[in-house]
Amino acid sequence: MRNFNENTITDAVLERIAGATDPRIKEVSEALVRHLHAFVREVRPTQKEWEFGIDFLTRTGHMCDDNRQEFILLSDTLGVSMLVDAINHPVPEGATETTVLGPFFVQASPEKENGADISGPMEGDPMLVTGSVSTVDGRPLAGAVVDVWHSDDDGYYDVQQLDKIGDLAMRARFHTDQNGRFNFWSIKPAAYPIPHDGPVGDMLEVQGRHPWRPAHVHFMISAPGFEQLVTHVFVAGDKYLDSDVVFGVKDSLIREFVRHPAGRAPDGRMVESEYFHLNYDFGLKQVASNAKAA
Ligand code: BEZ
Ligand code: FE
Repeated sequence: MRNFNENTITDAVLERIAGATDPRIKEVSEALVRHLHAFVREVRPTQKEWEFGIDFLTRTGHMCDDNRQEFILLSDTLGVSMLVDAINHPVPEGATETTVLGPFFVQASPEKENGADISGPMEGDPMLVTGSVSTVDGRPLAGAVVDVWHSDDDGYYDVQQLDKIGDLAMRARFHTDQNGRFNFWSIKPAAYPIPHDGPVGDMLEVQGRHPWRPAHVHFMISAPGFEQLVTHVFVAGDKYLDSDVVFGVKDSLIREFVRHPAGRAPDGRMVESEYFHLNYDFGLKQVASNAKAA
């Protein structure tokens, strides 16, 4: 087959991949070709625009290393990460909604006892976080692993300022107690812009978009027999709740971080300045019993 033109090239490529033996590879490859060709037909790029697109993707790749994943950031800012999340995480009654993982999760987070203060050397408004983990029908889950991480009150994570602060902070791994509860102290996080010094930042600018995320605390919660929950709790009233650059906000994940005067906090600690209290009760759904082992 030769002499393809605008009208015949798509079928020619589809025919060429018809022999793919893995049915999923075939399905995905065919959809990729159909949608990519439809995109090009709609946009009708000039040769120069096509080169610009290739250069944009090349720069995105060059911006990726062990510490920076510009392709995931691209997926996040185009709403693809939240679309994949929505497809894969239907939420039954009683289960907590999910949202993006983001680039600041650290696998080797320090294990802490309930009640610990994880703010390290960071200064800010004290924040008490209390919460529980249970099944969708309200049975407390003891021994669940609760990973938490959040930014400081300037909007920076520990891993973005390790040369200044020397060690991880504002992140830890807790275990729920016999009643499925956990609690810790830290400082209240602020809204922050996602890393926007690369091609994704350039894209946001030309699309007339800001790079900000509303203030939030990340949670990753695991318990044997239950689907791992990746989510955040957002600070009610934040001005970016309706324009989160990665489309991650859901009403059920917004909570008041309640302001309290100095004094004795609910966990018995005496606090010398005003502080904020977040409480959130998480629901985990069971792994489907017919789920295939990965
Ligand atoms: C975050 O919340 O940490 C985050 C999520 C997506 C992109 C960038 C940052
Ligand atoms: Fe974050």
